[in-house]
This record gives sequence, C-alpha cells and structure tokens, in this order.
Amino acid sequence: MYSPEQTKKLQQLTNNLLAASKTHPVEKSKLEELKDVLRFHEYRYAIMNDPLISDFEYDGLYKQLEHIETAHPDLVTADSPSQRVAKGLTKEFPTMQHLVPMLSLENSYNEQDLLDWDRRARELSGLEELEYCVEPKFDGASISLTYENDMLLRGVTRGDGVAGDEITTNIRQIRSVPLSASFSKYGLQVVEIRGEILMNKNNFKKYNEQLAEQNLAPLANPRNAAAGSLRIKDPKEVSRRNLEAFLYHISYFTTLEGWQMTDGHLAGPEGEDMGKVRSKDMPVHPALKTHSGSLQLLWDLGFRSPQKEKKVVKGIQAVVDYCHEFEKQRDNLPYEIDGMVIKVNSIALQDKMGMTTHHPRWAIAFKFKARQATSTLRKVEFQVGRTGSITPVAKLDPVPLGGVTVSSVSLFNEEVVREKDLKIGDQVLVERAGDVIPYIVKPLTDVRTGKETSIVFPTHCPVCGDKLVKPEGEAVWRCVNINCPAQVVERIIHFASKDAMDIRSFGDANVRKFYELGFLKDVPGIYHLPYDKIRELEGFGEKSVGNLQTAIETSKQQPLHRLIFGLGIRYVGETTAKTLAAAVSHLSDFTEYSLEDLQNLEDVGPKVATSVYQFFHNKDNKALLEKLESLGLNLKSQKAAPSTEGNLNGQTFLFTGTLNRLKRSDAEEIVEKNGGKLLSGVSSKLNYLIVGEDAGSKLEKAKKIPSIKILTEDEFIKMVNI
Ligand code: IVH
Repeated sequence: MYSPEQTKKLQQLTNNLLAASKTHPVEKSKLEELKDVLRFHEYRYAIMNDPLISDFEYDGLYKQLEHIETAHPDLVTADSPSQRVAKGLTKEFPTMQHLVPMLSLENSYNEQDLLDWDRRARELSGLEELEYCVEPKFDGASISLTYENDMLLRGVTRGDGVAGDEITTNIRQIRSVPLSASFSKYGLQVVEIRGEILMNKNNFKKYNEQLAEQNLAPLANPRNAAAGSLRIKDPKEVSRRNLEAFLYHISYFTTLEGWQMTDGHLAGPEGEDMGKVRSKDMPVHPALKTHSGSLQLLWDLGFRSPQKEKKVVKGIQAVVDYCHEFEKQRDNLPYEIDGMVIKVNSIALQDKMGMTTHHPRWAIAFKFKARQATSTLRKVEFQVGRTGSITPVAKLDPVPLGGVTVSSVSLFNEEVVREKDLKIGDQVLVERAGDVIPYIVKPLTDVRTGKETSIVFPTHCPVCGDKLVKPEGEAVWRCVNINCPAQVVERIIHFASKDAMDIRSFGDANVRKFYELGFLKDVPGIYHLPYDKIRELEGFGEKSVGNLQTAIETSKQQPLHRLIFGLGIRYVGETTAKTLAAAVSHLSDFTEYSLEDLQNLEDVGPKVATSVYQFFHNKDNKALLEKLESLGLNLKSQKAAPSTEGNLNGQTFLFTGTLNRLKRSDAEEIVEKNGGKLLSGVSSKLNYLIVGEDAGSKLEKAKKIPSIKILTEDEFIKMVNI
C-alpha cells in the first residue's frame, strides 16, 4: 500500500507535524497533510501491526485534526480519520440486502474429504490438476462491506445470507476497515467485499477480565465477542472493544464509465454480465484473473486481506500439507481460526464450476479439530481475588486439549455453576477458546450415575475466615476484609503485572514466595525488599537478584496511567486510567475532585466516578500514595506543563454542562495552551465559567459571585479566537 518512498515521506511529514504542534496548533492549510499522516499511522497500526509512533503521539496529532475540524466544520470529509467516531446511540439496525447472497462453505474434516473434493473439482473443471489458493478460516462474525465511488457506503452483518443488519456506524469504529479506498484507480465504482470481524485473543482476554471486574458473566469465545460487539448501540463502546477485520472476497462490482469489458474478470452476481474490467490504457490487474490477485488488490488498496497468510499451490497434496503446516501455528496467531479455506484460484474456473444454493463448488473449508475434550469434575476450590471476589475453580482429571493439559478451569461465579447445573463427579465437556482460557461447556447429564453431589458455596472466606457477603445486584460473593492475605497478595501481583507497573521477573510465583517468607507485606514493600535475604534463597543468583532490583527501580519512572491502573481501583481499567492520568498534573489532585468533576471526564460514568472518589478520599489510600511518592515513584502526569504565555495568561477557567462544538478535553487544552489555568470548582478565585447545555449547580453558584464572568461556548470560542 505504501511504497518505501511514501513511507519515508510520511514519516518526515509526521515528524514535522509533531514538532510544529509542540509550539502552536497545526494550521488549517495543513489539514490534508494531517489526514494523510493519520491514515498512514492507522494503517501501520491496524493493518501492518507495526506502529511507527506511540499512541500518545497519535492522539496528539488526532487532537490537532479535531481542533481544525471543530473550527471549520465545512472542511470535514466522510473519510476523515475523525469520522470513525460517532455521537450518540444507534436507534436501530435496518435490514439491508447483500448485493450478492452470502453463501456458506462446504466443510471437510480430514485428508480423505479433501481428496474427494479435489476429484470432483477436477471433473467439473475438466482439468488434470488445479491451482488452489489456501488461506485461514477466520473464526469471527462475517460481514459485507460496500464501497461506492471510493467511499465506504455501508457494512451489513451476514444475517440469513440474503439480508442482514446494517451496522455501518459500528464498522466505522474498526481501524482496519478503510473509510475510503482508491477503487477508481482500477475502474471500479461499486464494490462489495466479504470478510470477517474478529476480536483478537489478547483483547478478548482483557475484555473478559473487565467483565469479571464488573461481576458480569464472561463471554465464551472471541467469535461471540465479535458478533455481540457488532450489535452494540453505542459506537463508542464498539470502538473500545478494539475489533479487527480481515477481508477475503470481492463478491460484486460495477465499473466506471469508459472502462472497457475484456477477458479478465473478478466475479459477478449470477445472470448479470458484470465484472469484466479493463481500461484501454491500463494493464490488467492480477485481481481480474485470480482469487489470490483479488487478495493482492485488496491489500494494495489498504485492506487487511490474508495476503501474507495465503498460499497458492498446485494440486491437492500441497493443499493438505499447507493446512497441516498452518494448523501448527494456530496457537501462535493473535486471533482465532477454526480451519483453512481452499479456493480454486482461477476466477474463470470458479464461474465455470458455479454454486449450489448453499455453497460455491469452487471452495471448501478444512475444519481443524474442535478443541473439546471430556473429563471428570473432581472438586471445586474457591479462590479469593484482588477485590475479595470469590471465584469457584473446577479441578478436573488432567486432560490434553489443543497441546496443553487442562486440570483447572474457572467457573466464574455461583450463577454460572447453577445455570450449567454442574455437580461434583460429573463428566464434563471442556473447550479451549482463545489459546489460554479453557471453560466447561456443559455436564454430560446422560451419563450421570446418581452418585454426583452438589457444589456447596462457602459462607466464610477460605483464606482469612471472615464472613462472605454478596452485595445486592451482584453475582459474586466477596470477602470484605481488605487485609485478607489473599487479597493483599493479589493486589501486589496486579501492581507489578505487565499492563500495570510492568516489573519484569516479579511475577506471581515470586510475589507469593516473598509474601509467605515475610519479605513483603504490601505494595510499598516492593520498593524495600531485603535483597540480602533474597540472595540466599535457592534459585536466586547474583544476576537474577540484580535484574529484579533494576526492574523494580526502573518501574518508579513508569507513566502515571500505569500506576493508576496498578492501584487496582475498582472499575478502573487501562483506558480509564489513561483518562484519569491525563486529567491531572499530580495524582494527589484527585483528592480535590468532586464526584461531578470526575463525571465530567470523558467516559467516566457514576459507577466509576464513585469508586474513584471513594478511593481518593480514603485515608489509608492517601497514606499509600504519600508513601509511594516518598519511595521515589512518579506521581506526576506527563501532561505538558501549562504554558505561561498566551492571551489567557493567569486567568482561571471552569467548564460546566455539555459543550456542543468543542470536546471538553479539547476546550481545556485550549485554555492551558493559551496560558490559562483550570479550576475544579466555583470559588472567588474563578475568573470565567464557560456554560454548556444543562448546566446545573455550578452555574447557580457562580451567579452569586459577581467577579465571575459567565460565558457561553460560542463566546469562549470567540475569545480564544479559533
Ligand atoms: S469464503 C463465497 N474465506 O466461514 C465465499 N470464508 O463457514 C464464501 N470464513 O460464511 C466465503 N474465513 O464467514 C471465506 N478465508 C475465508 C473465510 C471465510 C472465514 C467464514 C465465512 C463463511 C464461513 C463458512
């Protein structure tokens, strides 16, 4: 998609924009450049999986785009990177017909099935040997995308194959789906593409952890997670799910006027003479002749097609070999696949072979073995989590499943156990979704002997013995003793974990060991471990202790959002931690935040706000933060120091109510960039209150203080001259 020269040029532009934006806002004349740069980095991130700039830098440039577009709404184009984001909720998903019905695939399960299919395919095509394109069978939710005049027009779920739900707004949230693509370069006007929407294994795991944190039942597998996410009415939530797309088939197209019909063609709906595309002056694109060519075309246009994963081979034996070879990599892939798809590569032959009402005759799926097994449920143990939640864990007779031995499976909560009607002694069906999380699908009730016994939930904490409680409306029993040793250890493990303070060589096992030996009793304890005693432990050489010491020391400088996440405040995941870190210049600023201030932050609702408020108003937590700071940890935000120059110099500002033209965070940034200061409450120190829609108590309070100037959003925009 981007040649080395283009890449170099865009990198140069990026650096210029990044440097320029440090001192002043990017000018309107640079809008197209800014969009090109953002699209390029979207591509590096979402398609190449090889970003060239940090999220922080990307966000900075993105804000510059928003800034220009807010001031000049007439310059916003539908394919601007800002236009993925949608406001408000989707009311409904209208039913929309696919341009070509979405057929299914015939399945095969072993080598013999494939040999039989190859024989039939050769008979149908009249050839001795066929060329095949073999590619992964992505295990997600299938969709069709339509582009018209190079712009993404709509996205539709599979539905019944003929018509599905129109989910364009949600599809726009997926960064690997281009909002525009230069189809016109190849003479194409309307194009329908098929593909699969996925949630990768890592995001699926994180998503389930978030659900667990909120005491919600986890999702069974990434496929369900992707399918469910596409039907969410809040596009912002869809965006947070970090879905991905693979596009693998061009099902329909029309040509632009002036393009000639010649030999090569892609594929067209039955009965219509479509798809024969060739310009007089243009070479035939390989896409016009083969399936692998269409994958190449999609790739060249900026789509994520299985361009690198596919293999073109001659004859069925090579197909079989590639299927086996790829299956070995299954666990190493970041996303789930459930098999391979084999397609006759020549489009002309595909047309000749045709289709049944159910599936094309020119393609077949080779399904990998289901990763299911049966075992016996021997007992259930109850684990105490970081927040005191009690999780039932099933202990099974060890059983091999997709390359690992499974003997311990989380049952999540009491409700899940009841719903599944599990009993001790049951034969159970176990499945491994993702490559890490095995789960119990169901008990095999037909083979019960009558000797199975019920699972009894404890009334007291299995670790500290305190009485358990189950708060109203929650599915999980909790130990509320915050000094319960199990919770303390889990809190330390979380603090040091990869997504939090990322202290290498300080994982689960070491934390537990040091805790049991009394070397460590709380989070600050990490920073004064008795290294002389650790050196004497078996397995701890000079070098490993040195590494540990360095890792712990280095972690003190981790950015503030990692520390916030590491504190394990309930409902504060990585994203919220970033929002919080960006809002303050020092973590202790939160002790002065009201509930309302917290809720004014982006994506912070009442539940999160209450939890954060309680955390920062708790005296033990305040002491903890002071202690961490005295130990040398960074509690300051990386937020750029407020400017001391500009036309708002020294003036204080506060925003209240909903702003219509500006995003709250942008408005606040404008104040700071121009030398103004933000306050969190109304007092005589306040110079300006900027009032949006539905302003409440702050406005009433400000009206009583004559020195405060009350401005509308428009007046503010005029004042700062944007
Ligand atoms: S080709 C006419 N290729 O598997 C073209 N399908 O079980 C038919 N799928 O409905 C589809 N990866 O949703 C094709 N590389 C791939 C695929 C793929 C996943 C899905 C697709 C299809 C289902 C059939």
